[in-house]
Amino acid sequence: MIPLTLAEVAGAVDGRLLAADPAARVTGPVEFDSRKVSAGTLFVAFPGEKVDGHDYAAAAVEAGAVAVLGTRDVPGVPMVLVADALDAMGRLARAVVDRLPELTVIGLTGSSGKTTTKDLIAQLTVRLGPTVAPPGSFNNELGHPWTALRADPDTRFLVLEKGARGVGHVRYLCEVVPPRISVVLNVGVAHLGEFGSVENIALAKGELVESLPADGLAVLNADDPLVDAMAGRTRARVVRYGEAAHADVRAVDVTLDGRGRASYTLVTPEGSAPVRLGLTGRHQVSNSLAAAAVARELGMPLTELAAALGELGLVSTRRMDVFERPDGVTVIDDSYNANPASMAVALRALDGMRGGGRTLAVLGYMAELGPYERDGHLEVGRLTAGLGVDRLLVVGEPAAPIHEGATAVEDWGGESVLLTDQAAAVEMLRGELRPGDVVLVKGSRYRTWEVADALRVDATGEGAAA
Ligand SMILES: Nc1ncnc2c1ncn2[C@@H]1O[C@H](COP(=O)(O)OP(=O)(O)OP(=O)(O)O)[C@@H](O)[C@H]1O
Ligand SMILES: [Mg+2]
Repeated sequence: MIPLTLAEVAGAVDGRLLAADPAARVTGPVEFDSRKVSAGTLFVAFPGEKVDGHDYAAAAVEAGAVAVLGTRDVPGVPMVLVADALDAMGRLARAVVDRLPELTVIGLTGSSGKTTTKDLIAQLTVRLGPTVAPPGSFNNELGHPWTALRADPDTRFLVLEKGARGVGHVRYLCEVVPPRISVVLNVGVAHLGEFGSVENIALAKGELVESLPADGLAVLNADDPLVDAMAGRTRARVVRYGEAAHADVRAVDVTLDGRGRASYTLVTPEGSAPVRLGLTGRHQVSNSLAAAAVARELGMPLTELAAALGELGLVSTRRMDVFERPDGVTVIDDSYNANPASMAVALRALDGMRGGGRTLAVLGYMAELGPYERDGHLEVGRLTAGLGVDRLLVVGEPAAPIHEGATAVEDWGGESVLLTDQAAAVEMLRGELRPGDVVLVKGSRYRTWEVADALRVDATGEGAAA
């Protein structure tokens, strides 16, 4: 963060100083977890349901916090008193980024692949200058200002994932930290439950390009018609990426190797160059093109860009994280989250990685699909069978329609089983897995990842079942 006096902080957030020295300087970071407080920190106290941050105010000051930003007075503690701490954090973030003229803010949204692509973009921008990006999927009204407040005068790029659970959310996040480059990846049915319709999802995602200034840049996926059409909703210049012929940054001649890694020719207005990704899954072509379009805009020369794309790695865990066990079993841990579109890309990657053994899919419930819930699960089951996956383990009763969808496919040579929980899946896999098998583990957070973790533990030998 840039150093600010408490008077400046109070001014930025419309706060009132209590028992605080207006000239005392906050040097950052801004933290809401008292265990992370160090000298110079501004501690933000949220009135939580279980834990009230104000109870930790004194401890935070003892640990070095300059003051506490909160909604009620804590006697003996220097306070910046505000009506709403989250809103205040947003305003403070805005005040900080407004004081950083050298900073380029890159925002991205989409139904699937935000965190993955945020990590790809940050891996490219860090080659061009100091970069700040949030850890994992910290993409909401808290993660946003928290991350932005980590930018300082040396920071050149701030890469922010913008999550949305309703119309207006992305617009709000863009007010907190206005992007100059906005990337929209795709519009799918993720969070359909909250949005009500795909049209609303497109409406919500498009807020990211609507909020751009005239000298900004909208980076749009030319392969997704709903995203492509967002060009009409921005004043900013538009650059399209994708495999479509009208894309400015394109991939042609895409091939996949036996481990599901894509190679392609990157075609840009400056020329073409070969790219060989180290990331697993056909969908990474699209994600890497989005990142390439951003880096190109920021001035990375084509040959350097193509080479850098080949060096991209995984940063956030449980997203197409492939590991091979000593017993010859390959595991694709994609257990962070799931919706029908991301299930499809993961299942296709599994299919593409088939080696000498079988393919197995351990699939869990997909949350937040609303009225599309049953159909979404049925569709994933049908696709699993349609792709000829050998063994399907459906985990948990709520995911049962996946099992139903798969077993309804008549000419499928594979087999599906509906299991009560993760432990049952782990037990079954331990008995069944053979060298050469490839296993995909995927579901909506919750506990599906316990299966991937158990397979990983088996791989290291620690605590493995006999
Ligand atoms: N471009 C893409 N299209 C479809 N699916 C994708 C794409 N990129 C990644 N995925 C799938 O989506 C999963 C989740 O990826 P990621 O965490 O990057 O998405 P997200 O949009 O950040 O999700 P969340 O809404 O939970 O923040 C991946 O593990 C992968 O299976
Ligand atoms: Mg995310």
